[in-house]
Amino acid sequence: MLEIVPETPALHADAIEDLFDRTFGPGHFAKTAERLREFSHSLPEITRVAVLDGRVIGVCRVWPLVVGPARDRALFYGPVAVTPEHRGSRLGLTVTGEALEAGAAAGWPAAILIGAPAYFGEIGFTVTPKNQLDFPGPQDQARVMVRDLAGDASRLAGLVTAP
Ligand SMILES: CC(C)(COP(=O)(O)OP(=O)(O)OC[C@H]1O[C@@H](n2cnc3c(N)ncnc32)[C@H](O)[C@@H]1OP(=O)(O)O)[C@@H](O)C(=O)NCCC(=O)NCCS
Repeated sequence: MLEIVPETPALHADAIEDLFDRTFGPGHFAKTAERLREFSHSLPEITRVAVLDGRVIGVCRVWPLVVGPARDRALFYGPVAVTPEHRGSRLGLTVTGEALEAGAAAGWPAAILIGAPAYFGEIGFTVTPKNQLDFPGPQDQARVMVRDLAGDASRLAGLVTAP
């Protein structure tokens, strides 16, 4: 049976880390997005995990961030990963969509994601105007996207940092 559930760290965290290692390889720790994550703590209650017969087969991890001099609050979505044998039915969009609903229900104003616009555009993410958001490292601006949650994502501007 397939379930989409919030992360219970004691049950899921090791399997999630294992999925990320297998998906992205050790090199992913060098990415700019990881600079944000290493000083933040993910939010298990907003993260969504796809569990099939007790096994983690997909995840969208979610992290709190602050943006710009106004220190606007935002949620950072990702990494998103699905085990190779379960790709092909948009499970990555399903888990991310449910994590977006959880973020909005908890009152977070906006979501930020770095990824493929052709994929994440399907669930409402749009690419930001170039350099509206800055990151603590090199970042391909064509992959920087935002989405409204309970507020207005278009007001986010400036340097994105861990809270
Ligand atoms: C990205 C990922 C989660 C998608 O898996 P999925 O939800 O099963 O998606 P599907 O394979 O069903 O693809 C759905 C559609 O999105 C497209 N798509 C998938 N990944 C894409 C990408 N990186 N860029 C653009 N389009 C993509 C597919 O071609 C497909 O389009 P179609 O319906 O026109 O054929 C999965 O491929 C994965 O884990 N990849 C490695 C990790 C990764 O790149 N994560 C995203 C960045 S954080």
